[in-house]
Amino acid sequence: MGSILTEQRERSIDASQWASGNQIERDLVLTDADFARIRELIYQRAGIVLAEHKREMVYSRLAKRLRHHNMTRFTDYLVRLERQPEAKEWEAFTNALTTNLTAFFREAHHFPLLAEHIRNKPGPVTIWCSAASTGEEPYSLAMTLLETLGPKAAQSKVIATDIDTDALSKARMGIYPLEQVRKLDEARVKRFFQKGTGQQQGLARIRPEVSELVEFLPLNLLAPQWPVKGPFDAVFCRNIMIYFDKETQAKILKRFAPLMKPEGLLFAGHSENFSYISDAFKLRGQTVYTRA
Ligand SMILES: C[S@@+](CC[C@H](N)C(=O)[O-])C[C@H]1O[C@@H](n2cnc3c(N)ncnc32)[C@H](O)[C@@H]1O
Repeated sequence: MGSILTEQRERSIDASQWASGNQIERDLVLTDADFARIRELIYQRAGIVLAEHKREMVYSRLAKRLRHHNMTRFTDYLVRLERQPEAKEWEAFTNALTTNLTAFFREAHHFPLLAEHIRNKPGPVTIWCSAASTGEEPYSLAMTLLETLGPKAAQSKVIATDIDTDALSKARMGIYPLEQVRKLDEARVKRFFQKGTGQQQGLARIRPEVSELVEFLPLNLLAPQWPVKGPFDAVFCRNIMIYFDKETQAKILKRFAPLMKPEGLLFAGHSENFSYISDAFKLRGQTVYTRA
């Protein structure tokens, strides 16, 4: 419930900034044709379906890119982008249009379910976090490995991937505002974070014991090849499928199945239902799926 509200709040912040008209100057020209082209390009590139009402969000997020290039018309930006299929700007374009909302132990009921699943595994555990964003989710998974497996967790691994390279850079740094970290149990804060001092006051860093278990890699779920191998004990694919259409979701789910151990678990976000999309998985309950 909390995350639904936060997701809605994020959307309305974009909208209200626009509506107020004071915080974002409307000095750049975004035509209907530009907006339609942007929607097409981000769909082709990342599978993200941008609804009609996202126009203001698109304006505010891509405005930074236009200003960076001293441009005032989205048309010019798009022409330049499309003329250079290999340009680095494609990465910035994609990063600008992703939504990275996340939190430590978001949708908290999943973590005890994961702990139960891995507790008595004989060998090392491997988890794929397929929309890792700025790192809070994969670090929460690594903390769960440490809490559940103790010293044996050192042989286990969380592979954390995302299309957004800026989000991954933040994730690799593993530094978060203390106010965000303070929402966790006191025991977790003490065990898994180092509080900053001096210039780092107000920040907390993930301890190496946790970060050593996580490997970050760029990965577009639409790409024909994925640089991850499996077999995974669990795949986390939460709050990303909502941005894709059913066809894209079905293709991705079909590719997840062979990468998972037969008894592996697939974790979905609170508003994501895979039952009607793919027969590769069946619902176990509480937005957790097993291979069919
Ligand atoms: C809302 S965040 C969800 C983060 C986290 N899984 C959670 O539930 O808190 C969605 C993430 O999906 C990523 N994403 C969007 N399209 C993607 C794609 N085609 N391939 C991989 N990641 C993608 C975005 O960059 C973003 O970080």
